[in-house]
Amino acid sequence: MVSGGPAAQRWAEQLASWAIPEEILARAPESPWGFPPELFAAPDQPPDTPSRRRALEALPEGGSVLDVGAGAGAAGLALVPPAGRLTAVDQSATMLEALVAKAGARGVEAQTVTGTWPEVAGQVGPADVVVCHHVLYNVADAAPFVAALTEHARRRVVVEITTAHPQAGLNHLWRHFHGLDRPEGPGLEDAIALLREAGVEPGAERFERPPRAGDLDRRSHVAFVRRRLCLDPSADPEVDRLLPPGAGLPATEAACLWWDVAP
Ligand SMILES: C[S@@+](CC[C@H](N)C(=O)[O-])C[C@H]1O[C@@H](n2cnc3c(N)ncnc32)[C@H](O)[C@@H]1O
Repeated sequence: MVSGGPAAQRWAEQLASWAIPEEILARAPESPWGFPPELFAAPDQPPDTPSRRRALEALPEGGSVLDVGAGAGAAGLALVPPAGRLTAVDQSATMLEALVAKAGARGVEAQTVTGTWPEVAGQVGPADVVVCHHVLYNVADAAPFVAALTEHARRRVVVEITTAHPQAGLNHLWRHFHGLDRPEGPGLEDAIALLREAGVEPGAERFERPPRAGDLDRRSHVAFVRRRLCLDPSADPEVDRLLPPGAGLPATEAACLWWDVAP
């Protein structure tokens, strides 16, 4: 069941429309979900993005950061230093292992909580700044998810998303291989509507983020998209022929949404 008002309902309905039809899923030789881990590796030199700047503005020297849907830590580790404490929540233990290794190399001990937000929010204390990058399109019941982000921030919440749904770049391939028309939304405007309905008036800044697929060669990109499309490896040459560079990988058109929390 989805909580919240019309914007939250619309968000959930649009996300549900991305479900892969059962008959295609049943024929998939491998799970179409998941990402090659190298896509979300935290870079040694964090890029100077609006999301990082907005978080740094609100972060005291030695302050605390909570990274929700942290993955391998790209958002939270980019704030260490000045952050002196990092808590990371993710439903994937494998991702969190990569984060802990990286945090150790930076001289900070990351506290991790493996589980789904907001279900595990009760196990997590507040932080000066809460960051949540590239997670919102995974969250059908977004109102309690967002409320728990706000409840855990002492100063500011910074959310980063791509302006369009992450899978929209593969729609022409779904049509080609399966004759299936895929949806387009939700997108940035739906996310802003969702936040306003939740009582948050976010600052919003669109920006071009550096591509994240630096370490992913063309063969791995093709194989990743072929799995997403529920095809077997014999489709690779055709996928290769039709796949634009970067399609299906985290897009560079992004937006930072942030809001302050009253002390
Ligand atoms: C696309 S990755 C982004 C990772 C990281 N924030 C970044 O920007 O590099 C999304 C991550 O969110 C996690 N995730 C998705 N929904 C979640 C939820 N409700 N609770 C906790 N983790 C979640 C996934 O396991 C995955 O590691």
